[in-house]
Amino acid sequence: MFKRMAQDFYFLRWYAAARLLGRRNPLQTVLAIGNACNLKCKHCAVYPRKPEDTLKKDYQTVRRELETCYKMGSRFVDFEGGEPFLWRDGERTVNDLFDLAKEIGFYSTTVTTNAQIPFDPCRSDLVWVSLDGVGKYHDLIRGPGAFDRLEKNVALSTHPNLNANMVINRYNWEAVEETVRYVADHPKFRLLAVSFHTPYPGTEEMTLDWETRCKVIDRSADLHKKGAPLMNTRSGLLRLKDMSFKKQCWISNFVLPDGTFEKKCGGDKLGICDRCGFGMTAEMVGLWNLNPETIRAGLKVRT
Ligand SMILES: C[S@@+](CC[C@H](N)C(=O)[O-])C[C@H]1O[C@@H](n2cnc3c(N)ncnc32)[C@H](O)[C@@H]1O
Ligand code: SF4
Repeated sequence: MFKRMAQDFYFLRWYAAARLLGRRNPLQTVLAIGNACNLKCKHCAVYPRKPEDTLKKDYQTVRRELETCYKMGSRFVDFEGGEPFLWRDGERTVNDLFDLAKEIGFYSTTVTTNAQIPFDPCRSDLVWVSLDGVGKYHDLIRGPGAFDRLEKNVALSTHPNLNANMVINRYNWEAVEETVRYVADHPKFRLLAVSFHTPYPGTEEMTLDWETRCKVIDRSADLHKKGAPLMNTRSGLLRLKDMSFKKQCWISNFVLPDGTFEKKCGGDKLGICDRCGFGMTAEMVGLWNLNPETIRAGLKVRT
């Protein structure tokens, strides 16, 4: 109860400083703890193309990075890779990094995984499992056998806040409805978050044409209205139809696998914000406008 009040108070202070004083301090950090991965997904620009390009941070480096982000104002952290569950430093595993973030003072941790190896027990508050379709659709993007391994490891998980996230591209857009139903009927998954492919260099051909993207958004917004377990808000989904809105991406900062700190997502430097597909981009605008639907959705996914 007191913890919750302290968090709400922090949020109000952060918001007032941003709105009234123009301070642009991050509230959330996306922290890549390396780029090593056990998959080579078609849509991904992160995994090392050559073994010598593999990057891995040690425990003390992650500690320094977390402390820096905390001092900048961040209170929520999402651990990313590469594949975070491959991470080791001696006896330490990624669970020790979740604990570390809490010790430093972060309110909540999330982790995004491809679920190719068992990830239970997991001490992150929330787990995002990347699910790019059911069966053949997922495997088309992530490689043969990836869906079966994901199903097996998700079945083994005892985590109480397990969610799925799907990146929609030209290979899997027809599978969106089936994936929504799969998550709705799944005994372990709570919610599905959807994003669209963002055309990082080398992955441009995966991009969905804009007309189809808008059709998928309308259909998803419709499913949302009918009670589908979508994490995105309806307003957030619809906002993704035209990316000319004023973005508030500074709400998240990024720490890259090589330790570079970025105040915004790399899409800005690459000049691809007009083709951004991240569902969170739209939700951050909702947060900035204190949209009740966005606040309700944020609370729902974190509890
Ligand atoms: C880089 S991965 C790291 C975590 C983990 N390896 C996984 O796949 O879940 C984080 C998320 O970024 C998504 N992603 C990768 N490439 C993307 C792209 N070009 N556009 C949008 N999302 C992308 C992945 O699908 C995944 O959900
Ligand atoms: S599993 Fe994640 S990090 Fe690895 S290649 Fe796929 S999207 Fe990239």
